[in-house]
Amino acid sequence: MADQLIAVLGGYGEVGATAVRRLSEYDYGRIRVGGRNPSRGRGLLGDLPGIELSYVDIEDAGSLQDFCTGAHLVLNCAGPSYRILDTVARAALKAGAHYVDVAGDVPAHRALGSTTGDRVAVFSAGLMPGLTGLLPRLIADSGDRLDIHVGGAVRMTPASAADILLAQGPDFGESLARWRGGAVVSRSLTPLRKVRPAGFPEPVDAMPFLPTEGIRLAEELDVAELRFYTAYASEAIPTTLAMAWADDPEFRDDYVELLTQAAKTDLRERDPYYVLTACVPAITGASSSLTLRTDDPYRLSGVVAALTASAVVQEKIGCGAHFADSVLDPDDIAAALRRDPLVQSLTIQKPAGSAAGHTSAPQN
Ligand SMILES: NC(=O)c1ccc[n+]([C@@H]2O[C@H](COP(=O)([O-])OP(=O)(O)OC[C@H]3O[C@@H](n4cnc5c(N)ncnc54)[C@H](OP(=O)(O)O)[C@@H]3O)[C@@H](O)[C@H]2O)c1
Repeated sequence: MADQLIAVLGGYGEVGATAVRRLSEYDYGRIRVGGRNPSRGRGLLGDLPGIELSYVDIEDAGSLQDFCTGAHLVLNCAGPSYRILDTVARAALKAGAHYVDVAGDVPAHRALGSTTGDRVAVFSAGLMPGLTGLLPRLIADSGDRLDIHVGGAVRMTPASAADILLAQGPDFGESLARWRGGAVVSRSLTPLRKVRPAGFPEPVDAMPFLPTEGIRLAEELDVAELRFYTAYASEAIPTTLAMAWADDPEFRDDYVELLTQAAKTDLRERDPYYVLTACVPAITGASSSLTLRTDDPYRLSGVVAALTASAVVQEKIGCGAHFADSVLDPDDIAAALRRDPLVQSLTIQKPAGSAAGHTSAPQN
């Protein structure tokens, strides 16, 4: 499709390797894959045509600038994202490249500011954040109440565990809060024990957490109310997180191993699953709902990152710094997800005649 060079930082990690595979499948013929041990990439991606493996260390400004030089777009799949912030984005823009980040979120977006010149920078291009802010737009509309549940039982990588531990404070969201009547209402929800939201294969503990992405979604859609829950298969992860956040911030790194172990505990008794479900409950008649299922949210985040990079290369996104959920087309992304083997199912149900969301979305 495109002969411009795409440089994928962290391109042989859990998220990045899938992003690279998908970009290759979407016919991007020139992909530079970088990290501190590029030989690892050869083993994982050596079968793909047009791959160039390259040494890069984000901590070494010279190697980072060399990695970005000549690229049309830099896709950042390295982590922990909340330590990298805007370092890679700045190097990419300095090299004249567009930028896509599978995470980054508000802290990286704010650190970069809006000065991207004629280039595009897109943050939060994964599953959560990413699809969690994008796909509910297919079913919800102004004035609706929207309920979102996301989570399950999956393995956790150290980079992801570190990001979860760092994700504390108003830049990330607020526990026990909901959005109602145009504002965040603090301490207005309580944890729900052993509930079974639609699409989940077992009862879960649902913890209310209104992320900044949810606030953006609520504002942009002008919904009347948004309840956002993170779903856990057991108490292992929430207990470990509560201990870590109560401890001295200096020792948070010690909890990376405990958190990855907690995720493994969940998988001792069940197969991996991950569900994103959004529902607009109806006062009378049928509700609208959307359910996405996968057993690998990491690799699916790589798919979303690759689709976002593709949208930028195809000039579907205007210049400036954005969040993926605000600028991607939910219909296009839902259609691409339906074709992707990492999506076990994506179902959308809307009552006949519903005006909500993007009505061109195929129903199944
Ligand atoms: N939005 C979402 O839904 C979502 C979902 C999952 C993950 N994420 C985020 O995606 C990021 C990656 O997660 P992951 O699970 O793919 O992690 P991972 O498997 O550990 O991969 C990280 C990659 O980055 C590279 N890397 C790390 N530090 C580097 C440095 N200093 N310089 C150059 N390369 C470096 C690693 O290679 P070397 O160590 O060999 O350098 C590896 O290739 C994390 O920030 C995570 O929070 C977002």
